Amino acid sequence: MSDFAESRASFACETNNKAVNEIFQSRLQDFQVRTEIGSQVASNDKASLFSLYEGNMKPTFEAIGEYDRDEKYNEIFNEESRIVMLEQKNHLKAFVSLRFDTEEGEDDRIYAVVYLYELQVEKDCRGKKIGKRCIDALNTLTKHLKLDKTMLTVSKYNPFAVKFYGNNQFIFDEIDPSWYEGGEDENYHIMSRV
Ligand SMILES: CC(C)(COP(=O)(O)OP(=O)(O)OC[C@H]1O[C@@H](n2cnc3c(N)ncnc32)[C@H](O)[C@@H]1OP(=O)(O)O)[C@@H](O)C(=O)NCCC(=O)NCCS
Repeated sequence: MSDFAESRASFACETNNKAVNEIFQSRLQDFQVRTEIGSQVASNDKASLFSLYEGNMKPTFEAIGEYDRDEKYNEIFNEESRIVMLEQKNHLKAFVSLRFDTEEGEDDRIYAVVYLYELQVEKDCRGKKIGKRCIDALNTLTKHLKLDKTMLTVSKYNPFAVKFYGNNQFIFDEIDPSWYEGGEDENYHIMSRV
């Protein structure tokens, strides 16, 4: 599994935005889909994206004293991230933030992965399978690029999301803290889908 994981991940990093975009657009034909490198997103789009993020997540993380605006902003609009924007009539309805990367598993095994950093759907648009279709697109990307799995980190304080990912064939990854002694005290899960 770890064979050439670094080179497969490096190869994936060379994937152009158009190829990523086509995979999402084919599953989300009721949206205009745009894919950009995080750091190259225009400032008006950055404002819309971050406003959607904060509207969805800030209350949850503030309530547990874990909201760091600058850290999150830099993570989303990073040169290593791809932002997939879903719009209708030029209004942002949802977005995905992903990276191509390697992850160390158990026994020093290295996996080449699509790492899902954010999946955010506007409140009024939920329950319409946008999330599920984005997961399908991510999984197709993983397969298409011959990567090992799709991975994500999700807060335990977001139980709806943990359930949503479980319903979409994600399982607790081999490096999920809950497998390790004392790990149940961590406030996040690491999930993956092969
Ligand atoms: C988690 C999230 C991405 C799911 O997106 P979505 O487009 O609503 O997902 P789907 O429509 O594919 O699936 C939602 C499930 O909830 C059910 N549901 C029904 N009504 C719903 C509603 N009003 N809102 C949300 N979900 C609803 C759906 O039926 C579906 O269940 P099913 O798979 O058993 O049919 C979305 O709720 C969200 O953006 N939440 C806030 C941000 C967040 O927590 N992101 C994850 C961070 S790691």
